Amino acid sequence: MATPASVKRLHHQIALVTGGSSGIGAGVAEALAAEGATVFVNYSHSPDGAAEVVKKIEAAGGKAFAVHADVSKEDEVLAMFDEIRRQCGTLHILINNSGIQDDSPFLDMSLEKWQHVINVNLTGQFLCAREAAREFVRRGPQPEISRATGKIICMSSVHEVIPWAGHVNYATSKGGIMQLMKSMAQELAPQRIRVNSIGPGAIATPINLTARDTPEEEKSLLTLIPYGRIGEPADIGKVAVWLASDESDYVTGTTLFADGGMTLYPGFADNG
Ligand code: BGC
Repeated sequence: MATPASVKRLHHQIALVTGGSSGIGAGVAEALAAEGATVFVNYSHSPDGAAEVVKKIEAAGGKAFAVHADVSKEDEVLAMFDEIRRQCGTLHILINNSGIQDDSPFLDMSLEKWQHVINVNLTGQFLCAREAAREFVRRGPQPEISRATGKIICMSSVHEVIPWAGHVNYATSKGGIMQLMKSMAQELAPQRIRVNSIGPGAIATPINLTARDTPEEEKSLLTLIPYGRIGEPADIGKVAVWLASDESDYVTGTTLFADGGMTLYPGFADNG
């Protein structure tokens, strides 16, 4: 039986999920919509992926729209927020999710690869968070909809704290997201804007396919996960719903790791 609308935790809320056309973003978009949010599914290169996610949400009885923007480009981000306002009037929840890996050994890392990842993962989160916060302040509180005036959830990674050889650009972007999130949380709390991060571990998505596409690789990856399984996008969707809902109203400035224990230094379990 469907959950009655009255108990849906994100009823009447408008959400934007950047990079919502695949992977963790798609899982989060579906989870928010299942809790009653109207979801804008942002995509940069994959209109078909976004359309697929919108279709899935609608088939489940939810409401969603696809919206284009390369989050690293200021003019495209501004246009995306205009489009959201035009269609739905305002925004309540930003899932700052778009992220890429473009790996290389450090000695060979080109400036282009460095900038590509920093521009999408870090500058993209800055631009979208700034526009979301501006919209929250412009609209002002709506206590009948949510106790917070707005919620920003940054998709970080276990690599905001775990260094990652061969992925210096990516790990740096995630370390940067930690301070971006905390500094925004400190600055925006008086306006009742909550800012938090999710730190996923290894989640089965296209981004890490090469790290788990043979049984040997999967076995080796599992040695890093004390809980003994690779995560699913839905695992992150559930955390995002909680962080976006009033159940977490007193939570701001924190990273919630959803990683099966990857940040517990599993190498020390029988060593050190
Ligand atoms: C990366 C994945 C990786 C995971 C754990 C994520 O942030 O995008 O490729 O499997 O961290 O290392």
